[in-house]
Amino acid sequence: MRVLSVSVALLVPVLLAQPPEPPPKEPTEKEKEEIDSGIPIASDLVKKSCSPCHKADEKGRLSRISWRRTTPEGWEFTIKRMVSLNGLEIQPSDAREVLKYLSTNLGLAPEEARLAAFEPEKRMIDYKYSDKDVEGVCSRCHSMGRVVSQRRSESEWKLLIAMHRGYYPLSDFQAFRRGGPPQTEPGPDGRPPDNRHPMDKVIPKLAEQLALKTPEWSAWAANMRAPKLQGRWAFSGYQAGRGSLYGETTIKATEKEDEFQTETRYVQVKTGEAIHRTGKALVYTGFQWRGRSNGGSADKTGMREVMLLDRNQRELTGRWFTGGYDEIGIDVTLTRLGNDPVVLGLDRMALQTGTGREVAIHGANFPAGLNASAIDFGRGVSVKRVVSATPELVKVEVEVAKDATLGPRDVAVAGAFRTGAAMVYDKIEAIKVTPQAGMARAGGINFPKQLQQFEAIAYHNGADGKPDTKDDLNLGPVDVTWSVEEYTATFDDHDKDFVGMLDANGLFTPNVDGPNPKRPGNANNTGDVWVVASYKTPEGKVLRARAHLLVTVPLYILYDQPEVAQ
Ligand code: HEC
Ligand code: HEC
Repeated sequence: MRVLSVSVALLVPVLLAQPPEPPPKEPTEKEKEEIDSGIPIASDLVKKSCSPCHKADEKGRLSRISWRRTTPEGWEFTIKRMVSLNGLEIQPSDAREVLKYLSTNLGLAPEEARLAAFEPEKRMIDYKYSDKDVEGVCSRCHSMGRVVSQRRSESEWKLLIAMHRGYYPLSDFQAFRRGGPPQTEPGPDGRPPDNRHPMDKVIPKLAEQLALKTPEWSAWAANMRAPKLQGRWAFSGYQAGRGSLYGETTIKATEKEDEFQTETRYVQVKTGEAIHRTGKALVYTGFQWRGRSNGGSADKTGMREVMLLDRNQRELTGRWFTGGYDEIGIDVTLTRLGNDPVVLGLDRMALQTGTGREVAIHGANFPAGLNASAIDFGRGVSVKRVVSATPELVKVEVEVAKDATLGPRDVAVAGAFRTGAAMVYDKIEAIKVTPQAGMARAGGINFPKQLQQFEAIAYHNGADGKPDTKDDLNLGPVDVTWSVEEYTATFDDHDKDFVGMLDANGLFTPNVDGPNPKRPGNANNTGDVWVVASYKTPEGKVLRARAHLLVTVPLYILYDQPEVAQ
């Protein structure tokens, strides 16, 4: 803290200076344009809270603040830093209002937020940014998600780099400055060498690629409105290892136009378990849903909800998550319900040729008195009879012809369609494990454990008969026998015996954190293993597939902004 306050004192005059410097020099055209792009602050609370340090100009723009746009998480991050390092004093209720104002009026447009959605949704993805130079410099220490969720003027990108260099002196050495002597020879293209430091190369790129002023934002800022979300929504979810979840969410309005209460009931199709969750949510910028819901007394932590609303206010999509590292999650789509029927999906998507079976169709608003002629699975799949029907669930008996063409089928109930809800196949030819590369973190003593769920997905090789090609038919998850095998990265380290346990459902739970005296060299319970799935086909053939699992140490620092949902 000591060290930091010294560096802050040094930084304040530099970083709070408003671009451009006041006279004697007249601002250039480019500088004028940049000043003009700043977004005026109309909120008295924001002005009162921030202007003691951030100077207001004659157009109501606040230095630093008006030249940047970001997500609710991005603003929360900054406000927290203002409190912890820079001496901002603010009541929690005021901080919430400031956060709401800034996220909504200096926020991201829907197109911009979608690009960066993996960051607040906490998805473990292998993100590739379009510019290698920028990625090389800015993804050394944190996710590119933090970068792509920001839009700034060129001066603000410069000052952000200055902030990094001030607070984290190592960043020059780790990423920002070029090491070694300057290049003197021309490059392969004959052009003189570019000896700028990496940070100087990326500033103009950031200013262009992640600009403050964009057509998307101008259009959204003019068009934005408080969302009217109250009513019934069809709930459709998918959770790795648990499969499909179908049900309904009721959204209720509150006195505040951007805050809502929710009640969700869904069933886990695979087990029939019924779940009831209640929660609340805030919608920023007219479309960014941040909520929290709880599934009753057994649900100790609740789930966070991060979703984006589409332009027509008919669909919310995103991820609900929990876990020590937000690693357990449901991909969720909520679709607004009117009076028309909606098909959400089947209890099992794969239908084998030459067989007959009962299939459950989940949905909403199914009419009473449905008969077989109102239900259609397309060619080669005939609906023999309706076994039972409620507004949410229709059970039917279907028969798949021996010679039915293989491939996807749209399923229709009383005129409502679900594209590709069923898949006609003749045999399972391959299985694959997802994710192909998993990660878990030892924990349970000083840090939480990070779990990893694996799934085995069955495939038909498609018309070309070859595995791993575009025309393969995905037949959905199948039950398999799971095992762990040694991955020989270090000879004789027996990782498999120490890293943790894989259960019958493919859920890997790592061992405890810290050194283990039973391991050679008192090593941690970390390592590399293969996670192996084997599936026995009805014909008696055994199909195998595997995925790599890295079990690593805990993350000692977690950057998280859970308050955006409160
Ligand atoms: C007590 C003084 C103080 C107050 C009050 C204050 N700030 Fe700051 N702010 C600073 C200082 C010092 C810096 C430069 C160092 C830094 O970036 O942390 C800064 C920098 C910033 C930046 C640029 C950071 C970046 O990521 O480049 C933003 C944005 C910002 N403040 C927002 C706010 C908002 C919003 C408020 C009001 C809720 C606020 N500040 C209140 C002192 C303050
Ligand atoms: C040497 C490690 C390192 C590198 C390289 C680095 N960052 Fe950071 N960055 C950090 C750390 C640490 C923080 C967290 C600051 C905090 O906790 O207050 C941070 C915070 C941020 C923030 C949030 C700050 C705010 O208040 O809005 C942004 C945006 C950001 N970095 C962008 C970048 C960009 C763009 C680059 C490439 C030019 C980059 N970072 C390169 C370490 C790094």
